Amino acid sequence: MVKAPDTSCDLMLFGALGDLASKKLFPALYQLDRAGLLSAGSRVLALARQDHDEDSARRLIRDRLQQHTPASSFDDESADRFLQRVSYCQLDFSTAEGYQQLEAWRSGREATLILYLATPPTMVAGIVAHIGRLACCDQQTRVVVEKPIGHDLPSSRHLNDQLAAVFDESQVFRIDHYLGKETVQNLIALRFANNLFASQWDQNHISHVEITVAESVGISGRWGYFDSAGQMRDMVQSHLLQLLCLLAMDPPSDLSADSIRDEKVKILKALRPMTSDMVQSHLVRGQYTAGSSGGKPVPGYLEEEGANRGSTTETFVALKVEIENWRWSGVPFYIRTGKRLPEKRSEVIIHFKPAPHYIFDPDQKHLANNKLIIRLQPDEGMALQILTKDQGLHKGMRLRQGPLELTFSEAFASDRIPDAYERLLLEVMKGNQYLFVRRDEIEHAWRWVDELLANCHECGAHPKRYAAGTWGPVASIAMTARDGRNWYEDA
Ligand code: BG6
Repeated sequence: MVKAPDTSCDLMLFGALGDLASKKLFPALYQLDRAGLLSAGSRVLALARQDHDEDSARRLIRDRLQQHTPASSFDDESADRFLQRVSYCQLDFSTAEGYQQLEAWRSGREATLILYLATPPTMVAGIVAHIGRLACCDQQTRVVVEKPIGHDLPSSRHLNDQLAAVFDESQVFRIDHYLGKETVQNLIALRFANNLFASQWDQNHISHVEITVAESVGISGRWGYFDSAGQMRDMVQSHLLQLLCLLAMDPPSDLSADSIRDEKVKILKALRPMTSDMVQSHLVRGQYTAGSSGGKPVPGYLEEEGANRGSTTETFVALKVEIENWRWSGVPFYIRTGKRLPEKRSEVIIHFKPAPHYIFDPDQKHLANNKLIIRLQPDEGMALQILTKDQGLHKGMRLRQGPLELTFSEAFASDRIPDAYERLLLEVMKGNQYLFVRRDEIEHAWRWVDELLANCHECGAHPKRYAAGTWGPVASIAMTARDGRNWYEDA
């Protein structure tokens, strides 16, 4: 049974009128309050540079809250009660003046102070330095920072150093929102609570693994940020590598933050470096051109609003990743992620090896390997593809492939699947770091991605084109086909 944190919290939300706060953070805090998971006396100080008095800020936050909360869980009484907790403070984050106001809000309070920096990454270091000088910021204070943590290893180290100048690592909560998704956490339960899988989870039993994180959206509205990052930095360095770690890591000795994070770091350190001679065969970068999405025509990446027509930034990446350790030697992890793909779908497919000796119809031999399909979003659930005898007297010993299926929305029909940010905010308030990324994880991930990108730029290849609404460049199909495999399509 989940309980509210034992102590009340004062949450200072920097960037409170921005996109992330409006779409994710306020709705998540509202849901927590509605579920009785905000401790009595917990408060939120919304900080932004816009000029509002308390009433107009609350009205604005309420309107946005309603807009971004499903109608089935929005009600006036809960919203009014939640907004009682919220105050507003106008603040120019970049200058020291003004930060003193925050002392007044905290004065005489014992509640745990949480600083949530929902601001552009360039502002983080400045805010941390200003806030570090305030008396209200002490060793109990927690700071929450969003990705991206840097643009590469040196910039990530620099930002981490600036955080470390004010906070101990145990006070820093780096968000990768994929870790807050129920189905991503479920990977830990699936792997380590079921000996059936735990005992089969290695190169003796698994031939290869696929991870797909597909999005149907394009880059409209945030071209500036995205073009300087690309899909590799925006998605692979964070979400995809985190998924890979959870799938590949050894069993932690317990569920504590450091036990889990120690195991993830071992995987990041064991990733086979992507050298320049591997880039051709192990990496495909793509960029979408005009096509269609949801039955409507959509522009190409270079025609999006604000686009630099000569950009060579990738919107699609497919990679063959290898992990150099005993458990995974010889087992490729094929990962792909892209914008403007045919649908939004994140899933993992574990392909098991066939039985050592096959005795059925030779024509059906290609069926003879089990697959575990883990659907992360949407339609969350899992299916284990197994082989059974086809029914009927005339079928002999013909085999049939079918799923053992678990769809979470049907199996746990009464439960709403909480948004990742609800879980993450709750864990910050409780002071649990297991769903947050430790400094060394981020830095090892950057080291690997930096080398890959450097080798890729050295070979000078431009991203390959793919039409919006398709599954990326054909080269990504060729990449798996060279190994005698193909991407699993559930359709
Ligand atoms: C963000 C990326 O971290 O994750 C976005 O910056 C991406 O580019 C988003 O669209 C995807 O998140 P989700 O939860 O919708 O899969």
